[in-house]
Amino acid sequence: MDDTAIASQMSPYMVDLEEGKTYKFCRCGESKKLPFCDDSHKGSDAKPHTFTADKTESVNVCGCMESEDYPFCDGSHILHF
Ligand code: FES
Repeated sequence: MDDTAIASQMSPYMVDLEEGKTYKFCRCGESKKLPFCDDSHKGSDAKPHTFTADKTESVNVCGCMESEDYPFCDGSHILHF
């Protein structure tokens, strides 16, 4: 994860993804629609992470910005407890 990413919470977000749909995940921590970007990052160095789902599924999306498998949670938030 890049140095501009800011954790929004120390646990994942459960989201439903739809195959072929493109999502923008927030990495500035300021969105009112977390974990999705709502363009609140404008004026900062942060940029959202754009991701296209390759299948329809429910997934855990990283909130701590430490996952090695971003945007998916890999359990790294556990290290903060
Ligand atoms: S990256 Fe946080 S609102 Fe866009």
